[in-house]
Amino acid sequence: MLRMTRHFIIDCDTAEDDIMSLFMLLRYGISVEGITIVEGNISFDQEVNNALWALEFIGKEIPVYPGSQRPLVKNYRTVENVHGKGGIGDKVVKPSKLKASNKHAVDAIIELADRYAGELEFLAISPLTNLALAYLKDKSLADKIKKVWIMGGTIYGRGNITPVAEYNIWVDPDAAKVIFSSGMDLTMVAWDLITNYTINDEEWDKIKSMNTKLSSFYIDIYAHYRNYAMTKQKMKGNPHPDLITTAIAIDSSVATKVEKQYVDIENCECLTRGMTVIDYLGIWNKEPNVNVVYEINKEKFISMLYNLLSWF
Ligand code: BDR
Ligand code: CA
Repeated sequence: MLRMTRHFIIDCDTAEDDIMSLFMLLRYGISVEGITIVEGNISFDQEVNNALWALEFIGKEIPVYPGSQRPLVKNYRTVENVHGKGGIGDKVVKPSKLKASNKHAVDAIIELADRYAGELEFLAISPLTNLALAYLKDKSLADKIKKVWIMGGTIYGRGNITPVAEYNIWVDPDAAKVIFSSGMDLTMVAWDLITNYTINDEEWDKIKSMNTKLSSFYIDIYAHYRNYAMTKQKMKGNPHPDLITTAIAIDSSVATKVEKQYVDIENCECLTRGMTVIDYLGIWNKEPNVNVVYEINKEKFISMLYNLLSWF
C-alpha cells in the first residue's frame, strides 16, 4: 500500500521528552518540516540549544525556529526543578555547529501551513503561544492545519503545576483558550491520563540493558525527571507526556478510548488558572471541540519506544 508522507511541525519547550518525541517522529518516517520553540520548561535560549544539540546527536538538519519567549498575557515560571538545569538533567549543552533560523516561529508556521495546506499536522507538546499567535495573525490556519495533537490539560483535575492544572496549559491559558475555540481538529492527551503509563523499574532496567547509543542517551537524559517523578509526584516511574502524545499522533490506534467533548480553558489569574474544563455530560449543549484521550494501549506505546531506542 502506498503511504502518503505526513508533514509535521513539532513545537517544543525542549526538555528530555520533547527531544525523544522529535526522534520518534523521525524514526517513524514523518517529515518534520520545522521545530518551533516556545517559552516553557527552561530558559528559552537553552530550549533552542537543546533542539539544535539533539539534531546534531541524531545527525539531521531540520530548521529550528525560535518563537514566543513569553505567554500572551500572563507571567509564568520555568521548571528546572522538574527537568534539571539543562532540561535533560543538570548538564547544560550547546550545539557545536548548527544555528537557529532567523525566521520567527509564527511566520514559519504560517508559511508551512500554506505550503502543506490541508496536510500539515501540529504536534504541540508545549504551551500553545506560538500556534495561537500564528492563528491570530492568519485565521485561515484553522482550515489549513489538518490536526493539532496537544499534550496538555487534565481530565480529572489532577495537575502537576497546581493541584488542578497541567503545566503547558497553565503557562499560557489565554493561548490555549484561543486554540480550543479555533475550530481546529484537536486531540488532547492529558497529564492525569499519562501518569497511568509510567516506565517502571523493570522497563527502565530493560532499556538500560539494550545498550544502544539511543538507549544510553535515554537513560542519561531521563534520570533527573524519573527521580523527580518518583520522589515528588507519587509516581512509580518516569512519565512520558510528550512521547505518548507523539505515539498517538503517529499511530492513532495507540489511543484505545477517545471521546469528542466540549472543553474550555479557565484563563483567570486565580486558583484554577489553566484548568481544562470538560463538559463530560454535555450540560452546556455546546458543539464538542476536542478529542479527549481516556485510555491508551501501553504495550503498543512501549513497543514503539523500544523500537525507537533500538534504532542505533
Ligand atoms: C508538559 O510540561 C513540560 O514540563 C513537559 O515537557 C510536558 O510537555 C507536562 O506537563
Ligand atoms: Ca514539552
